Amino acid sequence: MPRPEEVVFPRRERVEDRRKEVSQRKLLDEFFDHSTLLAVSRLVNRGLFDAIDYPISTGKEGGVFRATKGEEFRAVKIYRISNATFRHLPPYALEELRRESSVRNYGGLIFAWTRRENTILGRLRDAGVRAPVPYGHYRNVLVMEYIGSEEGAAPRLRDALVPDPGKVYDDLVSQIGRMVRDARLVHGDLSPYNTLFFEDRVVLIDVAQSVSADHPEARRLLERDLVHFSKFLSRLGQEVLPGEFFRAVGGDTLAAPARGE
Ligand SMILES: Nc1ncnc2c1ncn2[C@@H]1O[C@H](COP(=O)(O)OP(=O)(O)O)[C@@H](O)[C@H]1O
Ligand SMILES: [Mg+2]
Repeated sequence: MPRPEEVVFPRRERVEDRRKEVSQRKLLDEFFDHSTLLAVSRLVNRGLFDAIDYPISTGKEGGVFRATKGEEFRAVKIYRISNATFRHLPPYALEELRRESSVRNYGGLIFAWTRRENTILGRLRDAGVRAPVPYGHYRNVLVMEYIGSEEGAAPRLRDALVPDPGKVYDDLVSQIGRMVRDARLVHGDLSPYNTLFFEDRVVLIDVAQSVSADHPEARRLLERDLVHFSKFLSRLGQEVLPGEFFRAVGGDTLAAPARGE
């Protein structure tokens, strides 16, 4: 059984390039405090993955790492345990979390947030939405399906080369439609940044702040999510009619009024 600190960026994965090693070491120190290392090794012992390979993305709130499990890859999302983690969170999402989890301290909230992301990914998959399969979570660490290939993780839709924007629109209608109609959830932070583009199809990610379709903010949030895609698609020459987009994804099935009428 590997020691906790050997699970993260194991020696064989470290590149000779010393500069890279130093910067990875810095990352390692920032993300992998003692309790996070223990959480990571707990998940390794549970068989969810063998080792963390390298960071795919790191931000203020957390990072996503590629990991290996046998012949396959996994994506491991780690939330930083700090009160800064929730600074960017919309108040409605934090309220929802407090209501669901009854915890008050930051650590507890972050663990509940991680669990929430795992649960929502599960609900999306059950409804047939293209989103990463959740494999499990422990404390601030979530293990999910890796979207990408051996060459690297899939790009965000924002950064992807989109050969056929009309096809992307149809795909978005179908995926967001399933999310709204079948999973009865509204993402609330959906945009070309929280959508990956893999094998010419969209994959919805970063779902922890999603709200139930009967949430009073649901309609407003869905409208806002759709605007992000409409703007993006129109820049690619694909004009989108907002009302049509909204109806096509089942926006009419959301109970709350659009603008507090
Ligand atoms: N399952 C995944 N497979 C491959 N890459 C992923 C996966 N999940 C996230 N990523 C990458 O990590 C980035 C950050 O993930 P995200 O869930 O949006 O977290 P946050 O925005 O909170 O940092 C994404 O933009 C994407 O590049
Ligand atoms: Mg994101």
